[in-house]
Amino acid sequence: MKKIFITATDTDAGKTFVACALTQALINVGKKVAVYKPIAAGCQQVGDLLVNEDAQLLSQFSNCKQSISEVNPITLAAAIAPHIAASNENRAISIEEISQGFSKVTSLKAEVVITEGAGGWRLPIYINNNIGKSAKKHILLSDFAQDTKQDVILVINMKLGCLNHALLTYQAIIADGLQCIAWIANTASDQVMPYLNENIASLEQLLPMPKIAQLDFYNEKSMSLNDKINAAANKIDITHLL
Ligand SMILES: Nc1ncnc2c1ncn2[C@@H]1O[C@H](COP(=O)(O)OP(=O)(O)OP(=O)(O)O)[C@@H](O)[C@H]1O
Ligand SMILES: [Mg+2]
Repeated sequence: MKKIFITATDTDAGKTFVACALTQALINVGKKVAVYKPIAAGCQQVGDLLVNEDAQLLSQFSNCKQSISEVNPITLAAAIAPHIAASNENRAISIEEISQGFSKVTSLKAEVVITEGAGGWRLPIYINNNIGKSAKKHILLSDFAQDTKQDVILVINMKLGCLNHALLTYQAIIADGLQCIAWIANTASDQVMPYLNENIASLEQLLPMPKIAQLDFYNEKSMSLNDKINAAANKIDITHLL
């Protein structure tokens, strides 16, 4: 089973868009693909459940018949930093909870499990106020990726400042002892970066892993989000991943 963790240079960089497109690209070549979104902050009440848009979209693309709460076990109502949302709800997010949810997903015996992170690589999930007094450290979502030895794909939102964010993220992934197996250049807004191609060429020189897609911003009103994701799926070179 291949475990792929999708991270990005920032929030709103296109992690969900790319995770869905990658899931579809792998399904298109006959793979069984499960998805996982451990933590989502920003959910709507639907019946008894708090439901997050990213998780909903991801579960539509999975071909493993996953329920929404399997895809996304930790749901927080407010669209704010997850550890603050959790604290406001008098709860604490733990790595154990995230790992238990992941075990349920891996038990589906998919060939690939695609996990979408939250925010960027160093997302705090629990801040330990007693640090110094106890050995327990602050907990970050990257600790989960590290514990489960996932291969990481870095989505770079092509905008001014992305070279710095991309390099810092890459270096942090490597420092955690993980493999950053690929990156994707995404444009997640209708503001096309000046000198886009030159910036992509610079990243190709700065980063050692392969770029497996360059995704333009799909702005066509006639296309549904699913159409856009399907179009993006056809642009991803999955040969490096299999
Ligand atoms: N290449 C693209 N073409 C068209 N729309 C895109 C593209 N990339 C991203 N988007 C849109 O931009 C918005 C932000 O992307 P997305 O939700 O995938 O980011 P994210 O990194 O998952 O954000 P979050 O940190 O909130 O999970 C979404 O509305 C998404 O559909
Ligand atoms: Mg997302």
